[in-house]
Amino acid sequence: MRRRHLIEIHEQSWCPAAVRDGATDCLRLIALIGRQFDGALPPLRRALAMTGAARIIDLGSGGGGPWLALRTRLHTTTGAPAPIILTDLFPNRQALQAARAQAPAQIDFVDHAVDATNVPAELPGLRTLFTTFHHFDPLTAQAILQDAVDAGQGIAIFEQTRRTRAAQLFMLILAPIALLSAPLLRPFRWSRLFWTYIIPAIPAVLVFDGIVSCWRTYTEPDLRGMIARLTTDEVHGPAYQWEMGRARALLSPLGISYLIGYPANALAAMETRQEVARG
Ligand SMILES: C[S@@+](CC[C@H](N)C(=O)[O-])C[C@H]1O[C@@H](n2cnc3c(N)ncnc32)[C@H](O)[C@@H]1O
Repeated sequence: MRRRHLIEIHEQSWCPAAVRDGATDCLRLIALIGRQFDGALPPLRRALAMTGAARIIDLGSGGGGPWLALRTRLHTTTGAPAPIILTDLFPNRQALQAARAQAPAQIDFVDHAVDATNVPAELPGLRTLFTTFHHFDPLTAQAILQDAVDAGQGIAIFEQTRRTRAAQLFMLILAPIALLSAPLLRPFRWSRLFWTYIIPAIPAVLVFDGIVSCWRTYTEPDLRGMIARLTTDEVHGPAYQWEMGRARALLSPLGISYLIGYPANALAAMETRQEVARG
């Protein structure tokens, strides 16, 4: 199936805020109940261990992503809870403040724009992108990988959609979920009921954007092509180790696919650390 870079309705400025929020609230509920991103923990732990990174720099964080659910189960190599810095090109300050308020000792955010293709040097750490990579066109996606390599930082990318017909068919399930969950979602909003039962825009947007997301998702061969085009020399950055795979997700047969990359010499440094620890 060829990649198509179509538009998602919730990203458009003309999409009513009540519809956009209704759709994202529903997705958040699914992620919470289904513990959708638990499968990301083993690759994330591996990337943290391989890079020895002292913190996580989440890019394109939106409203905070899955971090409130994952944070307590992630530690740095020192055993301390991994600090998580949320960033975005268009930071949603209200949502990011709310995320920080829930775990002020572990979660913080950058309140100015951070571009994933040009992350400032003063933000070192393992870079993560959750359900965000498919939003970028191939040139921007490539630039995001290249920027991590040029900075010598680890990167971990997670997606919950796949570019297959079966995955697109599976997105139809979002409509009944939206219809069933609308009265249960908090904060309660009359607008959510209006846009679900009177004009069913929220279920329609969820299904449409889900199908488009599948079309936009990068496949393993696409990612391998991007990796092959990366410049990794002494001037632009060290050689990198890349790993791709798919983890299981409780409520979704699509699972969670991931790409992690880190400097190859980080592995040698880790082996030395382990040897030293073994005496
Ligand atoms: C799908 S949303 C957020 C998903 C979020 N990570 C989650 O799990 O809920 C994608 C985010 O990427 C941000 N974004 C778009 N272009 C960006 C860029 N060049 N650099 C960083 N963030 C960007 C958007 O503002 C948006 O908040």
